[in-house]
Amino acid sequence: MSTITIRNGTYRNIPVKNASFLLVKDFTVGTKGGYVTVKSEGYFGPEHDVVRVKVNGIEELEFTSKDTMQSSTAKQVNFPKVVEPIETEEEAMTRIRERFEILHDMTKAATAGDIRAMIVSGPPGVGKSFGVEQEIDKACLFDKLAGKKLRAEVVKGSATPIGLYQTLYKYSDSNCVLVFDDCDSILVDDVALNLLKGALDSGKKRKISWLSESSTLRREGIPDSFEFKGSVIFITNLKFDQMKSQKLRDHLDALQSRCHYLDLTLDTMRDKILRIKQIAKDGVLFQDYDFDEVTCDEIINFMDTNQARLREMSLRMALKIADLRKSFAGNWKRMAETTCMKPA
Ligand SMILES: Nc1ncnc2c1ncn2[C@@H]1O[C@H](COP(=O)(O)OP(=O)(O)OP(=O)(O)O)[C@@H](O)[C@H]1O
Ligand SMILES: [Mg+2]
Repeated sequence: MSTITIRNGTYRNIPVKNASFLLVKDFTVGTKGGYVTVKSEGYFGPEHDVVRVKVNGIEELEFTSKDTMQSSTAKQVNFPKVVEPIETEEEAMTRIRERFEILHDMTKAATAGDIRAMIVSGPPGVGKSFGVEQEIDKACLFDKLAGKKLRAEVVKGSATPIGLYQTLYKYSDSNCVLVFDDCDSILVDDVALNLLKGALDSGKKRKISWLSESSTLRREGIPDSFEFKGSVIFITNLKFDQMKSQKLRDHLDALQSRCHYLDLTLDTMRDKILRIKQIAKDGVLFQDYDFDEVTCDEIINFMDTNQARLREMSLRMALKIADLRKSFAGNWKRMAETTCMKPA
């Protein structure tokens, strides 16, 4: 990725002067004037990943090499402090921990039937499925002991509209929790999407209907409409509020307005590294590996140092590297470079 120094520009009417960024998209002239698209990397506050900085013309820009960028970013000349206070590492850790606590609490509430619909959004490999499944397993175990019967099902990958209808019917009782994990294909199929809208609706009565004649449903004795009383958790990598396609945006807005929407806000590289450090520090990330503390630190430091080249910054990547460390103690860095990193 090239880097660019913005001599003079604005972001949401706030001056951006002599600051350097990783360039996402070259200078472009849109309906409201010229802009460049750059990586915020915490510069404009933690919630911004990629931003468009307005500039009057290309003369306000200077392409810089990576080395120059580092020295120039370090200076971050003249950027007014009033923009948004830059979050400290500790504050970011607290924010991330809180979000995951909310994920656990909301899932628990869904298993208790107190929350009927939730969407969880976050980048790959940060622990969305893990958090939800852990709570569901706990609730199932507890319910078994208590002699109740919570019924939970995790649907992964794609689902055809009729398959979705059948699953919703099967888990339509109030003691059921359905988790759709990485089922984004539902969102691009109008029929499936409407079924999902029905299931996620916050209204008192959620009636779901199958509008066309179906021999499959008849054969299985499934009615062509029923009331859905279960809870639904939809886990996705998509950021609903940042989708480009207007058609999809409209649908997603409709879904979002119907249910609880939890964005785990792990958008910047720094957030992702902090999350990994957090789980490692809690002693749970590498617990199956019998590593000593020095080895755990070595893996985390390796990821930190190579953050720009790793194909993904995630807990999943940390575990992949841990596998290599375990199997190839003398050569793991070289192996990780080959299998986990983009070419130099
Ligand atoms: N709190 C945790 N403690 C220990 N390991 C964890 C924790 N959270 C996640 N992991 C591990 O990290 C890996 C990635 O987690 P998970 O599969 O939940 O990510 P995800 O956010 O659902 O990713 P994707 O969007 O790609 O499905 C898994 O191997 C999981 O076991
Ligand atoms: Mg997952």
